[in-house]
Amino acid sequence: MKNVIVEHLVKTYGSGENTVYAVNDVSFEVERGEFVAVVGASGSGKSTLMHMIGGVDRPTGGRISIDGKEITGMKPDTMAIFRRRQIGIVYQFYNLIPILTAEENITLPIDLDRRKPDPARLNEVLRALGIEDKRRFLPNQLSGGQQQRVSIARAIINEPALLLADEPTGNLDSKATDDIVSLLKMTNKTFGQTIIMITHDLSIAAQADRVLTMSDGRLTGEVG
Ligand SMILES: Nc1ncnc2c1ncn2[C@@H]1O[C@H](COP(=O)(O)OP(=O)(O)OP(=O)(O)O)[C@@H](O)[C@H]1O
Ligand SMILES: [Mg+2]
Repeated sequence: MKNVIVEHLVKTYGSGENTVYAVNDVSFEVERGEFVAVVGASGSGKSTLMHMIGGVDRPTGGRISIDGKEITGMKPDTMAIFRRRQIGIVYQFYNLIPILTAEENITLPIDLDRRKPDPARLNEVLRALGIEDKRRFLPNQLSGGQQQRVSIARAIINEPALLLADEPTGNLDSKATDDIVSLLKMTNKTFGQTIIMITHDLSIAAQADRVLTMSDGRLTGEVG
């Protein structure tokens, strides 16, 4: 079953002679439960592509379907709800709310949905990510690797159709990088979580099921 379908996706900035094709006619598909890495030089369009798949940015052209729903035509309100429930995003700099504890950060997408967190699911995710004893800590009381675990927990708490990660280890040392990559793989295997991960580190990319390569806004290669 296809989980993500991207068809002829285009994103331009500027107009006329100054038009920049950040993403230029990109098409690919991701199966449910697949772990896909995206690599490419700085400025090749990786983050722009991810922001459109995550519904945080609108394409200039083309279509994106996630879990059988075309997101490219959704109204902003519908998109916001779909994003909160079906898409988890992990960034390089964690993006945690500094005044909320680890647990409050993790349950934020559920609270925003005016639902109650399921304690069993919360415990399962805390345990899987090895941060059970950190639930009452504030982000500035956690190491970078621990903060990234919290941000992964927040991204998967709702069992989203898709987990997107943009350089999730870009700010971590090699030990924490290995831990986070192992945890993403565990999430993929244990929870069957579909993942698209951007990285510039080829040894990390090689651990995914498949590697897509971007160059100047285009997909130039596919390995795996
Ligand atoms: N808001 C914007 N306005 C104008 N140009 C933009 C904007 N956002 C991105 N771009 C351009 O689009 C291209 C792709 O940028 P993008 O951030 O997607 O690259 P990237 O592959 O994620 O790079 P990096 O590895 O450095 O994060 C770049 O040429 C960039 O300058
Ligand atoms: Mg980027």
